[in-house]
Amino acid sequence: MSRVPVRPLRQSLRAIAAIVLGCWLVAIAWSGGMSPALADGLTQAEIDTITQQWQGSIHALNDVNCASCHQEAETKAFLAQPTQESCRSCHEQAVDTFLLGKHGIRLLEGQTPLTPAMARLPMHADALDRQMTCNTCHDVHSVNTVQAATDSCLTCHNDAHSVNYQNSKHAKLFEADRSLPRPSNASVSCATCHLPRHSVTTGSGEVVKVNHNNTYTLKPRDRMVADVCMNCHGVEYSYNSIFDDELVTANFDKPPHLELETFDLVRALEVRRGDTTK
Ligand code: HEC
Ligand code: HEC
Ligand code: HEC
Ligand code: HEC
Ligand code: HEC
Ligand code: HEC
Repeated sequence: MSRVPVRPLRQSLRAIAAIVLGCWLVAIAWSGGMSPALADGLTQAEIDTITQQWQGSIHALNDVNCASCHQEAETKAFLAQPTQESCRSCHEQAVDTFLLGKHGIRLLEGQTPLTPAMARLPMHADALDRQMTCNTCHDVHSVNTVQAATDSCLTCHNDAHSVNYQNSKHAKLFEADRSLPRPSNASVSCATCHLPRHSVTTGSGEVVKVNHNNTYTLKPRDRMVADVCMNCHGVEYSYNSIFDDELVTANFDKPPHLELETFDLVRALEVRRGDTTK
């Protein structure tokens, strides 16, 4: 009564389901039901690639199928290019936080997605037309979150701070850690600081989720100290690093040398207090 054969069976069922759904997509495209843009460019080879990506994903393991995203829940209408609303039924927290940050806010306001062409910060020239959606950092079909945490950011961001990340000890730690399914507590990716994990209360208690609001830890800047740095560094080390503009631009490539005045004042205060209670 080994459970071993169950897995291949489930896998082949899954493969069959994917092929059927792939044919369904092609059929709809051919019958003219799809948006012209997609129908024009859609080849069987592209569908095969997407199907393969999906087969290796955590979605396939959890029986999240093509139709879970490509079919409108109520009307059952076929969606050629689903939006973030197709993720909402299962990932409400991710959708809500994404829409609040700089990356997502245009979608919340009903505008076209953000693109690097609109940016004030330096961006890669070959990325100017890329649209910022749920599909941008982790491909929606493979949902790879490791590559999403640094490599994806650097396909668009090209300012000194972003580029310098690769020279930091944080980056070396992340590089050594990549084999994990997700960035761990022991390494620091761009996402550790800009899309940090936070606790959220749900019906089933406290769970740790990624905060997709990429503006949150920047405003005010010292929010990052409490939410991120202090998971690993002391308060003084963290403040002295984060308020040193040169060190921020260098993406923390050396220990802080700032001695913030506040800490001296606090220390002096503590000394004085100590004296009076003696
Ligand atoms: C987790 C949700 C999800 C699942 C599961 C999913 N898709 Fe998609 N798919 C999307 C989204 C979102 C887009 C739009 C991407 C974009 O904005 O470019 C998309 C786009 C596509 C496209 C168009 C690609 C292009 O370049 O225009 C095809 C074809 C496609 N999916 C096929 C499939 C097939 C076949 C399956 C099942 C094997 C599948 N999808 C499973 C969410 C999903
Ligand atoms: C029908 C439910 C469902 C829908 C719809 C859905 N997902 Fe998921 N998703 C899951 C489940 C289940 C998991 C695995 C358990 C978990 O991490 O919550 C998951 C995991 C993920 C992960 C994490 C992968 C990892 O390695 O940890 C990402 C990223 C993701 N989904 C993105 C999306 C995006 C983007 C969409 C919309 C285009 C979407 N999902 C639509 C159910 C869904
Ligand atoms: C498709 C290109 C693209 C990708 C991929 C991307 N970004 Fe951005 N990001 C932008 C654009 C465009 C802006 C707006 C910049 C501006 O207005 O000057 C932005 C803004 C930001 C900001 C500033 C937010 C603010 O409120 O000022 C941060 C922080 C940021 N991104 C971090 C990241 C991180 C971390 C990743 C990877 C996990 C990432 N980005 C991936 C295009 C991208
Ligand atoms: C700027 C890049 C970026 C964009 C855009 C983005 N994600 Fe993510 N997402 C990440 C990264 C990086 C991780 C993994 C971070 C980690 O594990 O520390 C992640 C993790 C996740 C996870 C698994 C962790 C969790 O909290 O359950 C889900 C689900 C997810 N994203 C869904 C979405 C959805 C839905 C959208 C669109 C509303 C979206 N993501 C847009 C970068 C992005
Ligand atoms: C150890 C934490 C940390 C890491 C890792 C990190 N950043 Fe930052 N980042 C910061 C801080 C702090 C600021 C705030 C700078 C400010 O307020 O001027 C910032 C600012 C930014 C900005 C906004 C700059 C502006 O002038 O508005 C972008 C974009 C950005 N980071 C992208 C990235 C990308 C991409 C990566 C990875 C390649 C990355 N960061 C890695 C801490 C970090
Ligand atoms: C997940 C743990 C973790 C987080 C979160 C983290 N760091 Fe680090 N940081 C480290 C480790 C580990 C090192 C390497 C220490 C060493 O090798 O001496 C390091 C090194 C540094 C260095 C010195 C780099 C050098 O070359 O000596 C600075 C500065 C720094 N971190 C600042 C920050 C700031 C600021 C934040 C928050 C925005 C932060 N770190 C968040 C773990 C972390």
